[in-house]
Amino acid sequence: MPVVAVIGAQWGDEGKGKIVDLLSSKADVVARSQGGANAGHTIERGEEKIILHLLPSGILTPGILCLIGPGVVLDPEAFIKELDHVKTLGVSLQGRLTLDFRTHLVLPTHKLIEAHQEKDRGEDMIGTTCRGIGPTYADKASRQGVRVGDLLQKSRRLKVCGDLFDHHAALLKCFYKQVEPDRKVFLEMTERWAEALAPFAGDAVEQLHQALDTNRNVLLEGAQGTLLDLDLGTYPYVTSSHPTIGGPVLGLGVPPRKIDFVLGVLKAYCTRVGCGPFPTEMDEVTAEEIRKRGAEFGSTTGRPRRCGWLDLIAARQAARWNGIDGWAVTKLDVLDGQKPLKACIGYQIKGKVITSVPATHQGWEQVEPVYGELKGWKDSYSKRSMEDLPQGAIEYLETIEKFTHIPVYMISLGAGQEATILPRGEIIK
Ligand code: IMP
Repeated sequence: MPVVAVIGAQWGDEGKGKIVDLLSSKADVVARSQGGANAGHTIERGEEKIILHLLPSGILTPGILCLIGPGVVLDPEAFIKELDHVKTLGVSLQGRLTLDFRTHLVLPTHKLIEAHQEKDRGEDMIGTTCRGIGPTYADKASRQGVRVGDLLQKSRRLKVCGDLFDHHAALLKCFYKQVEPDRKVFLEMTERWAEALAPFAGDAVEQLHQALDTNRNVLLEGAQGTLLDLDLGTYPYVTSSHPTIGGPVLGLGVPPRKIDFVLGVLKAYCTRVGCGPFPTEMDEVTAEEIRKRGAEFGSTTGRPRRCGWLDLIAARQAARWNGIDGWAVTKLDVLDGQKPLKACIGYQIKGKVITSVPATHQGWEQVEPVYGELKGWKDSYSKRSMEDLPQGAIEYLETIEKFTHIPVYMISLGAGQEATILPRGEIIK
């Protein structure tokens, strides 16, 4: 019966991959609803570290149906590469993966255009992953995008892909003064995509609804995080999709009332990749320590992540916007031995306390964090139950619960599945 949505509560990289992988053992269906190959969901199984960009994290659990919804933007080259990768791991995809007919495709020219856009922004660059995400969503909104279903009939493929290619080629040639890409090579490429994607193409939305109708356990896997939401985040330093709870509603056609539990994934501290406001950003010496301990390097781009203290104002806002029912607090072990240990408990602008996150660019630039100090703890990593957790770690978790009014359902103390505590039992029984 449960439909559980897993939502990043910060700026992405909260550790959603492990959480989804863990919950997958009880799920029948895992579905991705937004984002694209900008995401990097890391799963560790024993010695093996697997990074998934497009495939739902449930793909590693045998027997689960994995769906990629219309709200995702899919880079066919990255998808084919990822399919090959999981096949080498012995993962069987037979009848287990549906890529929705409506899902939009990221073309190589989207990535070229984005590289020019970022360069032209100069100091105001967003620091995107350069995976063509923004330009693809822009073409989708302009109703000139290419969808998976368009690949399946030759005449339609040539028409839709050719039209968008011509538009991009003109832009690259006339506006960005770049050598025009080769149309013939591009159209041949789309033929290869058609062959590779056709076995997986289908109506993922309908399959999801059939699962809902038959009371299956469904996991809705969010990508990125709440503060990167196109509408609600730190615009323009955001991604171009909806990592908030609206993501699965729009991007998979899930009726909001069908979602039984919203699990917010909250890293015990904050990170951000790319540019833009980050109120609790640490001094570089402390950030460097946390980055090392937490292996905080982008799993898609390898960029060092900016590190900051836990931001309880942002967490509380994420809880309100997403209707979060419970937290999965991740990477608590990274704060082992951290002294001093700070958490942001207030925002102020020009000395005036504000109770929600700013809604303007200027507000985000001016906001200053107000910190509370916590006593910290020595070692949590080796602990496997609530009773064993050091008092300082328990206090940290209680502070999160009290401040946000949201209970903690999962505590992650390491990359492996065994390094997890469920203080309130299983979410999916
Ligand atoms: P884009 O999604 O590639 O357009 O990048 C826009 C912003 O979102 C940049 O700051 C990226 O670093 C950030 N971003 C996109 N995907 C992720 C992610 O999966 N984790 C963390 N940050 C991300």
